[in-house]
Amino acid sequence: MELITAKSAGFCFGVKKAVELVEKLAGQKDGRNIYTYGPIIHNEEVVKSLEEKGVHAVRSKDELDSITPGKNVMIIRSHGVSKAVMDELADRGFEIVDATCPFVKRIHNIVLEESKKGKSIIIIGNKNHPEVEGIMGWSLTPPAVIDSLEEVDRIEFDKQTSYCVVSQTTFNHNKFKDIVEKIRHLGYDVNVVTTICNATYERQCESREIASKVDTMIVIGDTHSSNSKKLYEICKEECEDTHFIQTLDDLNLELTKSVRLVGITAGASTPDYIIEEVQNYVRVDF
Ligand code: F3S
Repeated sequence: MELITAKSAGFCFGVKKAVELVEKLAGQKDGRNIYTYGPIIHNEEVVKSLEEKGVHAVRSKDELDSITPGKNVMIIRSHGVSKAVMDELADRGFEIVDATCPFVKRIHNIVLEESKKGKSIIIIGNKNHPEVEGIMGWSLTPPAVIDSLEEVDRIEFDKQTSYCVVSQTTFNHNKFKDIVEKIRHLGYDVNVVTTICNATYERQCESREIASKVDTMIVIGDTHSSNSKKLYEICKEECEDTHFIQTLDDLNLELTKSVRLVGITAGASTPDYIIEEVQNYVRVDF
């Protein structure tokens, strides 16, 4: 039996950088209290293991209020926060360590600069996603957030205004193109900046390709991670025998002799050690 693991499985560049930064700070043990503004990634295993190393994920305003002044470090996650949140944390006396992914930071800068020129910002993305909430918070003019063709009609365009369109990094390419085309067609002064990150798209394409040729496919990801769930759906479309697991413990495989090829992929919040455990298990036990 052969095993193929997607090269793009697991942490993307931005998440890897953020987790490494947290681990580095946790290892310094220099008397500073280390916090992350929300769980650093959508993976309970990782968050738990960081907690054991003294890194606390602040999940609510009450928790933030309960932190006593002192040598406190607050790490900002890869999907970033608004300027108001940054300022509030600084006002509370935190030393801020910014692990915002450079691709997200680029969007913050574009939104800030373009809105400074008086442009109206249109963000294509999910308005409830923390990344989009963060992006909105860097605009000096009131931004509009839309995630469908129908929602373009909701925007009250104005001939006197210039517009700048950006998108959430994980937004679907084709949907983005369709929405932009509809906006452009209206004939206003619109500048579009493509800010979609290819990491998600590439992982999806590679996983689809692997799933289409294997007999059994394993998708590893946190049950709360939307990119992992999406990966499962894509693989399931191609390979009926697709398993969605969080850790090796969830894997209930019964591979028959007819299974010749097994594929493995993993969402952006799955650490390498879990992928390796699953690989070793499949290699040794089957
Ligand atoms: Fe950054 Fe792209 Fe990952 S924006 S956090 S590298 S999905």
